[in-house]
Formats: sequence, C-alpha cells, structure tokens
Amino acid sequence: MNEITPTVKTEAAASPACARAPVGLLAELTHRCPLQCPYCSNPLDLERSNVELSTADWQKVMREAAALGILQIHLSGGEPTARKDLDDIVQTAAEVGLYTNLITAGVLLTKERLARLAELGLDHVQLSIQDVDPDNADRIAAYKGGAAKKREVARWVKELGLPLTVNAPIHRQNIKSMSKIIDYAVEVGAGRLEVAHIQYYAWALKNRAALMPTREDFMKTAEIVEAAKERLKGILVIDFVVPDYYAKYPKPCMGGWGRGIINVTPSGRVLPCHAAESLPGLTFDNVRDRALGDIWLNGDAFQKYRGTDWMKEPCRSCSRKEIDFGGCRCQAFALTGDATNTDPACSLSPLHEEWAKVAEVESHREPPEFIYRRVGKSGAQGGHSDGGQQENV
Ligand code: SF4
Ligand code: FES
Repeated sequence: MNEITPTVKTEAAASPACARAPVGLLAELTHRCPLQCPYCSNPLDLERSNVELSTADWQKVMREAAALGILQIHLSGGEPTARKDLDDIVQTAAEVGLYTNLITAGVLLTKERLARLAELGLDHVQLSIQDVDPDNADRIAAYKGGAAKKREVARWVKELGLPLTVNAPIHRQNIKSMSKIIDYAVEVGAGRLEVAHIQYYAWALKNRAALMPTREDFMKTAEIVEAAKERLKGILVIDFVVPDYYAKYPKPCMGGWGRGIINVTPSGRVLPCHAAESLPGLTFDNVRDRALGDIWLNGDAFQKYRGTDWMKEPCRSCSRKEIDFGGCRCQAFALTGDATNTDPACSLSPLHEEWAKVAEVESHREPPEFIYRRVGKSGAQGGHSDGGQQENV
C-alpha cells in the first residue's frame, strides 16, 4: 500500500482535540496486490478477499462520509484496481461530492479502464514507483515489467487530463536514484512528487536492515531535494518526508491521532491510522455495525490517543506536544512496548540514542534479502520473485 500525507488543515474543530469531521477517508478497498513491496504499510496479517466489504457497503460508507463533512476519499489498498467494482465505487464517490484520489501501483490498469474512471468522476491519480531503474524497481516490487507499465500509466493519466502525483518511497536500495526520480516526475508531467523515506513498522520493520539508508546518503538526498524545490518552482511540488531515525523530532503521524484522517480496512474496521491494529487493547468498530460519524466522534479507538491527555513525560510538558502529538503511537509501541511512550524518533525520548544507533549499525552492514509482502505468508523469506505475483491478487 502507498501512504497518504495529510496536506489539508482541519477546520471547524468541535473541541481542541477533535475536528468535527476528518478531512480525508483512506479507503483500503482490498489488501490484494500483485506487488510484494518489502516496505508495505499494510498489516502483517492481511485481510482476505472473502471478508471484504461489498460494493453496497462501500457506497454506504461514502454517503456517510460525505454527510459527515469529509472532503476527500483516497482509494487505496493493497491495490484498489484489483476490485472489479471500482467503477461503481468511483461513480458513487463523485456523486456524493468527494474529491476522489486513486492511489495505485498502476500495473493492473488499462487505458480504457482509466478513461472510464475519469468519465465517472475520478479527480486525481497517485502513482507509486519503486525506482527509475527498471530492473531494480521490478526486483523491489517482485513484479516483472512493472516499471515499464507504470511509465505507460503515467502517460495515460496525462493524456486523460488528470492531475498526477508520483509517490516514491525512499530507502537504501533506491536512494542513489533521488535526482533521477525527480527528473522522472518532471518528464511524466506530475504536478507533485512525494519522496517519503520509509516508516519502519509492519513489513518495513521486518525489512529494516535491508532498507535503512546511511545518514550520509540521507543528507545528500536532503540537499538534492532542496535544490530541486528551488529549481522546479511552478513546475513540480516536492513533498520530502525525512527518515525518523535521523530526525530531531518526530512527525505528527496522520496529522495527530483521530484529528484529520479516518481509515477503513477492506473488511470495514475503522481505524485512526493504518497500523492501529498492531496496538494492544484497542477495540475497532465496523462500518457494518455503527455509523461512521459516531465512530469518529465517540469510538473507543479514536478516543484513546486523541489530543494530549494520554501523554506521559517528556511529551506532557513539552512545548511541541500540539505540533507533533508525541509522534507515532504504532512506532512507539513497536519499539518500546508501550504506545504511550514518546516516539523514540524524538531526540527527547530517553530511548532515542540507543535507537538511533541501530540505524547507524544496520545501515553500514551488508543488507539482508528482502522479506516480501505476500498474502498468507507474512513470515516468508523471499529472493527476487517474478513467478509468484498472482497469488496476491
Ligand atoms: Fe514531540 Fe513528545 Fe518529543 Fe516533545 S517530547 S518533541 S511532544 S515527541
Ligand atoms: Fe499508527 Fe503512526 S502509524 S500512529
């Protein structure tokens, strides 16, 4: 799955801790995906197709989302184009007035299908790439021919007059391509490029030693991006997400817990973030049983880490607590065993130094083989695969 970066500020807050409505709905239509990226942000236990919401369920969710005041829907996955009813979903999203963004790897699309989606009201396409070097890209995704297909899809998007964002997750095994990735985005006519360093939870945490760049390489990419931002003003907007392990302060994950984004999984579970199921002690409501607005405002999982009352020191008395909300709950839990701890990405966390050392050490070692993301094989060790791609769809 690709990530979304909340870029729109929430307004009309009902309380300082909770906006009346989230700005965006991240709709994970399916966890099926023909790609097997080792940094996939989907949970390790992927939901199978037989538990997925029906077309009518998604249509109900979108009507409720629009009524609640949600502005944008991000159709995501897995790979959302693996859903045969994507046309109906896009049509309903447009009918109820949601700005509709398709977050896709592109490899299952045809030009005809994309044209139909545009006719039905699709507003925007966000296309993920693994690298500009086709062999390396196909190795990272374990999907032969993927890179070539993505170039073609980017061309179709522009021919159809749709705005395009290119999304390139950055890590040790493509970091040297940063300049070329920026050139690629300009070449294919993207208006926006997201170059986001990997967040290390779920699959990416399993593959951290294979994906962690050195600090020196990270610093070089930061310089390249800064120069490109200046050079490409008016041509390309670049969103650069720095790696937590080399940051001074953490990012406000999802813009703050339960503040701007609501996430619905393929089976209808409603989450404050896509990795929230990794946290213990949370109960998640399902859109089949409870209205989306009620879940957003009153659901237990949303209340748990909303605002700042749950915080311990050093966050509790920190002047940045309303800026980054203590970082990422899922990362804090994955790395410290307690979701209420300060995210170790923060230099004020007592665990920061020890944790940052891990990155230093791992990034200088020979990288291990990827553990690819595969449905039903969460622990599978993989080498380069081009034969197993169908089992994920
Ligand atoms: Fe943010 Fe907490 Fe660190 Fe302060 S101590 S900068 S609130 S993570
Ligand atoms: Fe869950 Fe950051 S991914 S709070």
